[in-house]
Amino acid sequence: MSAISQKHLTAIKHLQASDIDLIFQTADNFKDILQRPIKKVPSLRDITIANLFFEDSTRTRISFELAEKRLSADTINFSASGSSVKKGETLLDTVRNILAMKVDMIVMRHSSSGAAEFVSQHIPASVINAGDGTHEHPTQGLLDGYSVREKFKTLKGLNYLIIGDIKHSRVAGSDIPLMLKMGAKVKVCGPPTLVPKHIAELGVTYEPNLKKALEWCDVANVLRIQLERMDIKFIPTLREYSLFYGVNKELLDSLPRKITIMHPGPINRGVELNSDVADSSQSIILQQVENGVAIRMAVLYLLADRKN
Ligand code: CP
Repeated sequence: MSAISQKHLTAIKHLQASDIDLIFQTADNFKDILQRPIKKVPSLRDITIANLFFEDSTRTRISFELAEKRLSADTINFSASGSSVKKGETLLDTVRNILAMKVDMIVMRHSSSGAAEFVSQHIPASVINAGDGTHEHPTQGLLDGYSVREKFKTLKGLNYLIIGDIKHSRVAGSDIPLMLKMGAKVKVCGPPTLVPKHIAELGVTYEPNLKKALEWCDVANVLRIQLERMDIKFIPTLREYSLFYGVNKELLDSLPRKITIMHPGPINRGVELNSDVADSSQSIILQQVENGVAIRMAVLYLLADRKN
């Protein structure tokens, strides 16, 4: 098996299409193992991984922890609340002190864009970005791409739509380069205030009308309005947003064909997505979560295996 080209996973934009293929193929093997009664393999025995979560998480945190345990790694979990960050310790001092205890790899979520990249430039250990501000969430991009590949066999030629708050979304920040690198076409849809001005420069088209955008796509990834990342108002009210950009069953039933619905979570039910869609057979939301474990096992395994 070939090796991944990068020492760190801080952004999809640093990966080559061959790296993404390698991660997908490795995840296929781990997904098979995860179906077995004994789901644990010894691949990362004697490797210690620190999960540093400076920002809240449910899916990513549990998924990484489970992936590490399935690979037999030793893990330590850190959250900023209750740590010496509260006493003014810097990010780099925090990470260097944890590494001094013979930690081999860092998984890090932080509210500042570029935090994982910054840390990766100052420490010898591999860093995996578990979401940094409004920048990227590379393992989410990988699990999204993997889930679409699982359903459609390939990403090449697919019409991939991202709906909602594109401007503040690190999921869009990773999904867009991943889908384009793997040969899909990408369109975004949402209020103009929530779409970056220079989106066309990324090779992405913009459609403000939700119905027209849905008619175009094979897959729609519906994003949450990220109010916690907005310092000013970008939409009048959530109710108005929902009226124009909320995805519901009536709208999906009016389309000429059945499309696939994704959401990275957490869902604000009744705002960007109604329960009659989120819980329907058109939704692959829980398959995304399931695939996250195999994808994170693949990323951890390939980075640990890489000879630095
Ligand atoms: N998709 C995702 O990143 O979810 P969490 O914030 O719960 O980790």
